[in-house]
Amino acid sequence: MKTAEDIRAAKGRSNIAMLTVYDYPTACALDRCGLDILFVGDTLGEVELGFARTSEVTMEMMLHHLGAVRRGVKQTHLLADLPYGSYAAPEQALENARRLLEAGADSVKLEGPRYDVVEYLVAHGVDVMGHVGLLPQTAQRYVRQGTRKSSAARVESEAVGLARAGCYAVVLEYVPTELAQRITSAIPVPTVGIGAGPHCDGQVLVITDMLGLYPRVPSYVRKYAHLYETIVQAGEAFRDEVKEGLFPSGGSGKAVKS
Ligand code: KIV
Repeated sequence: MKTAEDIRAAKGRSNIAMLTVYDYPTACALDRCGLDILFVGDTLGEVELGFARTSEVTMEMMLHHLGAVRRGVKQTHLLADLPYGSYAAPEQALENARRLLEAGADSVKLEGPRYDVVEYLVAHGVDVMGHVGLLPQTAQRYVRQGTRKSSAARVESEAVGLARAGCYAVVLEYVPTELAQRITSAIPVPTVGIGAGPHCDGQVLVITDMLGLYPRVPSYVRKYAHLYETIVQAGEAFRDEVKEGLFPSGGSGKAVKS
């Protein structure tokens, strides 16, 4: 398993591949893929639990899903999100980060320029990934960030500040390609992009987006499978065979053989 230090040291050497994961069977499958990081993100709230916003995710929900994922992940670095409201103050952040670590996380991630929190966590031995650009926990709208000179400068200085505070890597979400490239050159730790172009040190996607399982996906997502259609087809095939008396007796021309 790669440690946070291994991931930090990957800067300039190899691209970091990271995917989100929220449940046991998907964790078992993804753990075989040789990815650098598996991540129980608070996108959990939107793509798995059907909430409108990630800010509805609680520590209890994170711990529940993290436990399931941990039981499936044996060899990949496992990162977990500190959810909205769980790191308002450094001491509260440490208490909640420790709960995530006890539930099986190898490191934690938080959103925004919380330098005080990052410094405190790092001083207490917690490995932290930062996150700048679009911050879904607090964003009013999911739009590209850093498109103006002033907001680009703010996003860049936040990434610099998080690296200085001790983050071992920083997620750049939904920022222009040139800004991501500039930040990637400016900071000494890896950037992991999502909707931030090809010049980051790594890439992360939300698993349900890249598997084509969630109906609404951002424009920058590449789908590596089309599971939504596969599920509909499987459900319809089962329905037909039950209605026609072909399942369980009569064999099946439609079931996928494993
Ligand atoms: O929670 C999440 O899935 C994230 C990714 C968008 C990076 O923060």
